[in-house]
Amino acid sequence: MIKKGNLLSEGKAKSLFETEKHEELMMVYRDDTSAFDGKKKEALKGKGEINNIFNAHIMDYLANNGVETHHLKTVSENESLVQRLDMLPVECVVRNIATGSICRRLGVEQGLNFEEPLFEFFLKDDDLGDPLINDNHIIAFKWGTEKEIETMKEKTLAINKLLCEKFSKAGLILVDYKVEFGRRGDEIILGDEFTPDGCRIWDQETGESLDKDRFRKDLGNVVESYQIVAHKLGISI
Ligand code: CDP
Repeated sequence: MIKKGNLLSEGKAKSLFETEKHEELMMVYRDDTSAFDGKKKEALKGKGEINNIFNAHIMDYLANNGVETHHLKTVSENESLVQRLDMLPVECVVRNIATGSICRRLGVEQGLNFEEPLFEFFLKDDDLGDPLINDNHIIAFKWGTEKEIETMKEKTLAINKLLCEKFSKAGLILVDYKVEFGRRGDEIILGDEFTPDGCRIWDQETGESLDKDRFRKDLGNVVESYQIVAHKLGISI
C-alpha cells in the first residue's frame, strides 16, 4: 500500500497527491467530467476507473516505443503512481482532421483531412480560456526554451504516429488530442494523461464519436463509448 500525503493540486478530472517519496506522486482519476472551461460539469460513474486503466495502457505502449512518460504503475482502480515533473504551462494539440475549435476559429469545414498533422500550442489558463499561442510567446514569456519547444513538437508528433497506427488497426480514427509535458532535470517528459477525455476518436466505419464530444454534445453513453474504445484497443477493463 502506497500512502497518499498532501493534496498537491486538483484539476477538473484528476487530483494529485504527494507520497512518502518526494519524486513520486499519486494521480487520482475522478468521475468528474467538465467541458467548456468548466461551465458544464457532471460526475459520470466509472469514468475515473476506465480512464486510469486506459491511460496506463497508452503510457506503457508509448514507453515501449521510445516515448518516455511520467507513468510508473497503476496502484488501484482509479490511482496511478507517477514521477514528479515540473509541468510547462502549455498544451500541445495535434490535429489529423479538422473539427472543434479550429473550425470555429478559422471557419474551415468540419472533417477536412490534413495532409500533414497540424500542431498547435495553447496556454494552460482557464481564466483566459486557454488561448492559442505560438513559439514566440513561449520564448517571450519564458514558459519554455527554444529547445524545449522543439522537443515538445517532436515528441507530440512521434506520439501521433504511434497512436494513429494503433488506433487504425483497432478500427478507430485518432482525430485530434492534447498532451502536456514537464521537466525532469534537463529532460522533457510526457506527463498528465492520455484518455478519451483529452482526444477525439471516431469509429472508422460509422464516424461515430467515442470520446468526450459525447459529453460536450449531450449524446449520452459517454462511459460506455470509452469502454468500446478500450475494448477495440484490447485493453481489459
Ligand atoms: O474541445 P474544443 O473544441 O474546445 O478544443 P479543440 O482545440 O478542438 O481540442 C483539440 C483536442 O484537444 C480535443 O481532442 C480536445 O479534447 C483536446 N483538449 C483537451 O483535452 N483539453 C483542452 N484544454 C483543450 C483541448
